[in-house]
Amino acid sequence: MNRIQMQTFNIAVIAGDGIGKEVVPEGIRVLEAAGHRFGFRWNWKEFDWSCETYVRTGKMMPDDGLQQLRPFDAIFLGAVGHPDVPDHVSLWGLLIPIRRAFRQYVNLRPVKLFDGIDSPLKNWKPGQIDFAIVRENNEGEYSNIGGRLYEGTEDEMAVQQTVFTRRGVNRVLHFAFELARRRNKHLTSATKSNGIIHTMPFWDECFRAMATKYPDVHTDQYHIDILTAHFVRHPDWFDVVVGSNLFGDILSDLGPAVVGSIGIAPSANLNPEKELPSMFEPVHGSAPDIAGKGIANPIGQIWSGAMMLRHLGAAEAADAVDSAIAATLASSKIRTPDIGGSSTTQELGEAIAKQVRGA
Ligand code: NAI
Ligand code: MG
Repeated sequence: MNRIQMQTFNIAVIAGDGIGKEVVPEGIRVLEAAGHRFGFRWNWKEFDWSCETYVRTGKMMPDDGLQQLRPFDAIFLGAVGHPDVPDHVSLWGLLIPIRRAFRQYVNLRPVKLFDGIDSPLKNWKPGQIDFAIVRENNEGEYSNIGGRLYEGTEDEMAVQQTVFTRRGVNRVLHFAFELARRRNKHLTSATKSNGIIHTMPFWDECFRAMATKYPDVHTDQYHIDILTAHFVRHPDWFDVVVGSNLFGDILSDLGPAVVGSIGIAPSANLNPEKELPSMFEPVHGSAPDIAGKGIANPIGQIWSGAMMLRHLGAAEAADAVDSAIAATLASSKIRTPDIGGSSTTQELGEAIAKQVRGA
């Protein structure tokens, strides 16, 4: 294929705040290396939407922000959050509108123990912990239906409605079952139908009904409280774990935590139908405590880039980036401080890019 016919991916880049601005260029560096090796091109368009922009303009993104993002193949996001801006402003002003408007109803987070990363759990070896968390990303507990009455009085009350729709529950379960079928054919559902007696039994019913269509997938379910304990005590029990927005949120921080640094954990906000752009971002935030020092670990961003490649259909390139991350962690002395080294963000990014180039 000559250069003119080369496939081009159009990507909206939102580096955001703090270390987002430091790790995103490393993600791009590695994805550029993958493009070179596997014969495709990237067209990056940067958007300076962030808490800093909010402080200047009063908005996290312009009024037509979602329309601006709509034509892109995907969104590559760093992190948003600043100590001077309340976290609900950055979340409800940017991330949640993107996730909802683009029906990114799956939040996918892989959890994997790598050679070269110390887990806070004792006695686990690389390869023994390898599972994926599928979080419902559009509805559930994170709804803006509710309100307060009699504010500031003795009678004050607050109500927040949880919303589970059949369509919303079934589509995320469908994704999780399909993923389990492609992996080790085991799906675990997070529930709490003993205490939460309307929405969670509904979730469980949908889960059981869909399980009958996947006789090849082994299923189990746990209440969220004991499930968190099993994540720590028996992380090898899991292949794919599916949960509602709240339960998935908690599990998807706990999962990466049990296998090591928050700095390496990736996530994908997926519109599985690919009718609308999906968004790829590391699990970590803007890390104001280390921002500006050039020592943030770029692997969470780079691995998110690998998930983006896979979503865009470039599986071979995605595998190459995954392998480069694993190889660098296992054998390179180039490591950022969070994983026990003294290298910079750029040095680690370049080390991985070099592996991807095959040099
Ligand atoms: P955080 O993930 O930014 O930082 C937690 C701790 O992990 C800090 O000690 C930080 O230095 C360390 N850390 C995080 N990423 C790292 C990396 N790549 N390399 C090395 N160390 C790393 O979470 P925190 O402190 O709770 O939140 C800071 C800001 O980020 C807040 O404003 C929060 O709202 C925002 N945030 C944004 C997210 C997003 O954009 N999706 C997700 C989580 C938090
Ligand atoms: Mg979270």
